[in-house]
Order: sequence, then structure tokens, then C-alpha cells
Amino acid sequence: MSATYTLDTATSRANPTPAPMRRLTIPAIRARKVDGVTDSPIVMLTAYTARQAQLLDPHCDLLLVGDSLGQVIYGLPSSVPVTLEMMAAHGAAVVRGSYHSAVIIDMPFGSYEASPEQAFASAARLMKETGAAGVKLEGGEAMAPTITFLSERGIPVCAHVGLTPQAVNALGGYGPRGRDAAEAAKIRNDARAVAAAGCFAMVIEGVIEELAIEITGDVHCPTIGIGASAACDGQVLVTEDLLGMFERTPRFVKRYADLAGTISDAAAQYAQEVRARSFPGEAQLYGAKK
Ligand code: KIV
Repeated sequence: MSATYTLDTATSRANPTPAPMRRLTIPAIRARKVDGVTDSPIVMLTAYTARQAQLLDPHCDLLLVGDSLGQVIYGLPSSVPVTLEMMAAHGAAVVRGSYHSAVIIDMPFGSYEASPEQAFASAARLMKETGAAGVKLEGGEAMAPTITFLSERGIPVCAHVGLTPQAVNALGGYGPRGRDAAEAAKIRNDARAVAAAGCFAMVIEGVIEELAIEITGDVHCPTIGIGASAACDGQVLVTEDLLGMFERTPRFVKRYADLAGTISDAAAQYAQEVRARSFPGEAQLYGAKK
């Protein structure tokens, strides 16, 4: 990446305004996997805000406006209560804050499962209101007709199989999937079905490594792993997890920073200076007009 872009806080737009065609396209990302081989693994991270997108963008191929924002941003107990309105607002912010990565948006629970037509209306709304390049939806074989319906109507779809967090109430938790033969066979079948339906990529979440490797070798589209295998065609993490924003670090997360510690230290120092009346100091004060 050569150009450096800043966010114009007056307009919330990247400055200078990037040329629209410089963004990576979904077909270009799909084309990374040739004859079952991906030489350059796909780098995906979640983003929910314009500033976060701006910082992540130069390093990523895909920015995912994940419905994990329910827990991460809104403090909800799961992604189930997340709405289309939330996804549209954060999706638009992420598109405004980025110029290089392709941006895709999670379809929230309840916005796509009823029928392909419902899914089309929801996905079209997200794409019109945000400028995103595609959507992601959870589910396997049952979602295959919907994936075909959307893909044939100009909406690139990233599928999501294995552990599907929107189904937490049916699954009974967020534990790894595919540990017994029957469950592994179902996930394998789901992956084949969504690939055949035309998804441009699929997230494989929280499955045993052996199964992730097998699926990656089996399907023609790229697989993007989270809690899966380094052999997947790409990887995704929730950005706040890798930044160390939370006390709990799931097994599949590697912490690359301790932002929680940094924020807490900064807030503590600020509080101490306010109480000691040493902030604001001379450098932060306005003098009278001369
Ligand atoms: O919502 C999300 O952030 C996701 C990723 C964890 C894949 O779906």
C-alpha cells in the first residue's frame, strides 16, 4: 500500500477521496483460489466503525461488518437481537472509512432465513444503504437456495458453516463443532452445498482442524477459518479479540496487543490529573486574543 489516507472528520470520508475502482473486488478475492490452491491467503478482520476500518484497511483484503457487533459494541448477550438498522449504520461507517478492502456485511438473524425473497430484500437494503460489496449469512444446506437466489441477482454471498453463532439457542452454546462423526458429516455436507450454491467464499468457524482441512481441499471456493486451521484459504478474527480488549481470550484467538490495559492506564492517569487539577495544563489552554 503506498497512499496514506486520513479520515476527514467533517465529512467522515477518506481523504483524499480514493478512486472507486482501486478497491479489491469480490471476483478478485474469489479468484485467489485456483485449482484448489490459494497462494496468497485472504486476510479478513471485523470492523464496525469508520476509524477502525481506516486503521485496518491497508492490511486486509476483506473487512467484515460482523454481527458480533451485538456483543462487542452493544453489550448484547448474543448476535440474535442484532437488527438490519444496526448493520446498515455500521456497514456505511466501515465503507466510508476504507478504500482498499472489499467490505461485506453480516445479514442479522431473522433478516434472511424465511425465504430467498426476504433475504434479497434485506441484502439489497444493506448494499444500497452502505455501498458494501457483498453479504455474509450463516447456515449450510438449508441456505443453499437462498445463496443461489442472491448470487444470481448480483449479490455476492459469503457463507458461514460449522459453529454458527446465530443458532446459539439451537446449538446450546459456542463449543467447537464436528467432534463426532455425524456432526462432521453434516458440516461437510453443508460446506459442499453452499459451495455448489455459488458462495464466493465461506467462513468455517469452530471446527476440528482435520475437518477444516478436508473441506478446504474439497470445495472450489476459498475457505476463511476462525478456530479452524491455518490451512484454510484465509483467516478472520474479531478485531477486538486480537487487540486484547476483553479479559477472556478464547482458545482460537491470538492476542496481538493489550488495548484494554492501555485504555485503562490512560483513563486512570486522566482521572488522577483531573482530581489533582493538573489537567488541563498550560499546553491545553486558550489565551485571550492579542
Ligand atoms: O460476526 C462475526 O464477527 C463473524 C466472524 C467471527 C466470522 O461472523
